[in-house]
Amino acid sequence: MCGIIGYAGSRSCAGIIYEGLRKLEYRGYDSAGLALVGNGGVSTIRAVGNLESLGKELRRNGHPDASTGLGHTRWATHGRPSVENAHPHSDCSGKIAIVLNGIIENYADLKESLEGAGHRFTSETDAEVIAHLVELHYQGDLLQAVHRTCDDIEGHFAFCVVHDDHPGSIAGARRECPLLIGIGKGEHFVASAIPAFLTETRDVIEVGNDEFFLLTPDTAQVFDADLEPLEREVTRVQWSEDAAEKGGYETFMRKEIFEQPQALADTLAGRLPEDGDVVLEEMDISDTELAAVDKVYVLACGTSYHAGLVGRYVIERWARVPVELDIASEFRYRDPVITPTTLVIGISQSGETADTLVAMRQAREMGAKVLAITNIMGSQATRDADGVIYTRAGLEIGVAATKTHLAQIACMQLLALKLAQLKGTLPPGEVAAVAAELRSVPGLLERYLKSEAAAHDIARRYFEKPFFLYLGRGIGLPVCLEGALKLKEISYIPTEAYAAGEMKHGPIALLEKGSPVVVVATDGRVYEKVLSNIQEVRAREAAVIAVATEGNKAIRDFSDEVMYVPATSEMLSPLLAVVPLQLLAYYIARLKGCNVAQPRNLAKTVTVE
Ligand code: F6R
Repeated sequence: MCGIIGYAGSRSCAGIIYEGLRKLEYRGYDSAGLALVGNGGVSTIRAVGNLESLGKELRRNGHPDASTGLGHTRWATHGRPSVENAHPHSDCSGKIAIVLNGIIENYADLKESLEGAGHRFTSETDAEVIAHLVELHYQGDLLQAVHRTCDDIEGHFAFCVVHDDHPGSIAGARRECPLLIGIGKGEHFVASAIPAFLTETRDVIEVGNDEFFLLTPDTAQVFDADLEPLEREVTRVQWSEDAAEKGGYETFMRKEIFEQPQALADTLAGRLPEDGDVVLEEMDISDTELAAVDKVYVLACGTSYHAGLVGRYVIERWARVPVELDIASEFRYRDPVITPTTLVIGISQSGETADTLVAMRQAREMGAKVLAITNIMGSQATRDADGVIYTRAGLEIGVAATKTHLAQIACMQLLALKLAQLKGTLPPGEVAAVAAELRSVPGLLERYLKSEAAAHDIARRYFEKPFFLYLGRGIGLPVCLEGALKLKEISYIPTEAYAAGEMKHGPIALLEKGSPVVVVATDGRVYEKVLSNIQEVRAREAAVIAVATEGNKAIRDFSDEVMYVPATSEMLSPLLAVVPLQLLAYYIARLKGCNVAQPRNLAKTVTVE
């Protein structure tokens, strides 16, 4: 949550920082701001709303002389979105400006004592204490002042500071929240995420946990917790530049929906050799340890949780290991039963979600082996785990997750196959058959996406409905949970997702003539049962929108609308069935005129508990 970027170089930097913020806007968009260090000292420019408002301010005065600066795009935690609460924040003298991503947990006490010492605060934010603490501790050395500030603050954060006395420098620190340095020629960048400076440089060094940094146009230094300089290897990032561009699509979400065949193919690549073992690299969990696993525990939030739910069905079916799931924010407040033979899987696209990270750490402390499934190389989740399965979905910018979800499901399927192989619960021939089928799914998806118009037509007929019910059974249940989440988060239409068999125990009361009920009715062992539930819906004159397997003509007699997906075996069906639901949500949101790129109140990475 919140995106930060800094530039120290010789070029006029306002435009560079603004462009960087555009790439970080998915991290928060309720206000934004810049601090520019130029001839007139440190100037801050802040605006409420998305970046366009800031752009207007910048056009009025872009401080062309400034060649050092900071930028921030905010997702409000402490204090409503307003100009006063937008970052950067300044100290009393106006010589210092800071930007923060994260939370300062003890800010209230610090603010009280700073105010007692005469510091004047102008915002309701936790971040502003950092500006005043740096002011308090500054005795000529900016890095030392940052170091002392970190001794005072509790929480998880990444922050950057500029000071009028050091016009070419940026100092900062991180605890938990990410911070990457981009190395240019005679210039340096620092940001919450690489896309912020990817068009400028691909050479990156990381600021590690509890580390500090100091940038000037010519030097980029990282320091340990005692301010001893560290040697850091420069990594060359291979991501394509268009990953952070819409490439002709109207939104990132649409682009990413259509990138799913590739995301899936990349996630599977090399991991399913023709007739060999399932290959999961980056695993510091031995095959012997995996074979001994007698319980799997999945921890995740939101869409990632839904991928975990799909994993439950697949692991239990193929590997015969019981699977428990917890919403990560609930895990730590229960008394979960974890043993050394429990495999805990933290699923997080960003690898930064605070709730998931805390839960993973707790599970590790309890003695479990912890595996991370994430899309982001080197993210915190990868450090807090004994093994990693990377989703290779490429950069996902759309706030509503799509291609990473599909890739997470694929990773759970790969893991289930691996466990089944090690435990001997699936005969080798069957493993090979599933592997072959999995390899064919990207092609099927590609074909489906060429003829996805049904979702658009259905959206046109139903987008004004005030409520949608989603029903599914078995492995179709997580699919409908995900479909319902997608619709509510981007169109703001209330939705409910339910186990189809459970509908008669309550939600059926919501149905009236014409209520849209989306039913996942793909082929599988519960198909006949789902048909009975569809009949119950029809008896209330509600409108059934079915997701069904190609070739199932009979479903037309039971449904008002059908979105067909290519046939697969049941355990692979979510990889296809979820896509029409993503599209339905997308088209409905567009028809309602919602801002799909920036759904209200949401952020792509949720770094607060
Ligand atoms: C919904 C969505 C969220 C995330 C959730 C967890 O479209 O994207 O529900 O799935 O915030 O995020 P990660 O996977 O980064 O831990």
